[in-house]
Amino acid sequence: MQDIDTLREDLLARIAAAADSAALEQIRVAALGKKGAISELMRGLGQMSPEERKSAGPALNGLKDDVDSAIRAAREALEDALLDARLVSERIDVTLPVLPEARGSIHPVSQVIDEVTEIFAQMGFTVAEGPDIEEDFYNFTALNIPPEHPARQMHDTFYLPERPDGTRRVLRTHTSPVQIRTMLNTKPPLRIIAPGRTFRCDSDQTHTPMFHQIEALVIDESTHMGHLKGCIEAFCRAFFEVDEVKMRFRPSYFPFTEPSAEVDIGCRRDGGELRIGEGDDWLEIMGCGMVHPKVLEHCGVDPAKYQGFAFGMGIDRIAMLKYGAPDLRAFFDSDLRWLRHYGFSSLNVPTLGQGVSR
Ligand code: DAH
Repeated sequence: MQDIDTLREDLLARIAAAADSAALEQIRVAALGKKGAISELMRGLGQMSPEERKSAGPALNGLKDDVDSAIRAAREALEDALLDARLVSERIDVTLPVLPEARGSIHPVSQVIDEVTEIFAQMGFTVAEGPDIEEDFYNFTALNIPPEHPARQMHDTFYLPERPDGTRRVLRTHTSPVQIRTMLNTKPPLRIIAPGRTFRCDSDQTHTPMFHQIEALVIDESTHMGHLKGCIEAFCRAFFEVDEVKMRFRPSYFPFTEPSAEVDIGCRRDGGELRIGEGDDWLEIMGCGMVHPKVLEHCGVDPAKYQGFAFGMGIDRIAMLKYGAPDLRAFFDSDLRWLRHYGFSSLNVPTLGQGVSR
């Protein structure tokens, strides 16, 4: 019995002093392993008399249980201490921003609007605006497109519900109504551009129901078609960043200009790449013309004194051309992978001095 008590004290003291689970395991093997001290004593029970065994058996079993549970408790305490230490060293500050680095980027449409605005600002144009939901008068009638005019059909217009007086507003089908609003609000001479959203009921690889245009309007006493051509040519050279741009003006028809033209720029497809400004192919980029005298009259501008030019261009289309995005619908899908690929750094502000694009 004396043996058992001494052994217990010794083992419990060693267990209490064990610094890690490896030391604990050593103690366990030395006491309870096959050749351990307690196991040896257990084996001795066989040689004892029944009398001796009666008292030694329970005492040995008691020792075994005490040592076993002391080891378990010590192991648990060591693991708890280890976990506490880990939790302290791996503490996370949940008040930190989720992503410390800036991830957003500028959409190509916004970038191209900034580029175009920068180019025209250098030529003395200011930016004008109009609403997306427009009166029929500004979108059509004042632009010399009266009710029943066939040009209305070409616009695939979204109409708002009819009002009690029978009139309907529209989602503007082009940025040309900003011409009317500007001429009604400001006395000539005028030199404005108007970028913005436009809407038509149309959707395929190169058309989306919402798209963007930029309108330009110049009104004064001496502007003529030569100025229109020079202005568009200067714009194309700056925008596509080429020294010479092959251009052609094709006679066309718009109710709000006379004469009217569509502008094509020369291009060449080199393998998969589109080269702008040279080559034997043509790409249409805008409609233009001299402002129709009737439009001037609708805005209270005297056509005997004033004249000018206007043009309208699809922003998404020139963004596709310049940055090589093949499907217009992807512009408005909000697919993060697309945005990361085609997006621009917010620090990349277009200036003519630095070059308008990246
Ligand atoms: N508004 C026309 C369209 O969306 C484009 C246009 C053509 C605008 C000629 C103009 C212009 O200012 O002079 O199809």
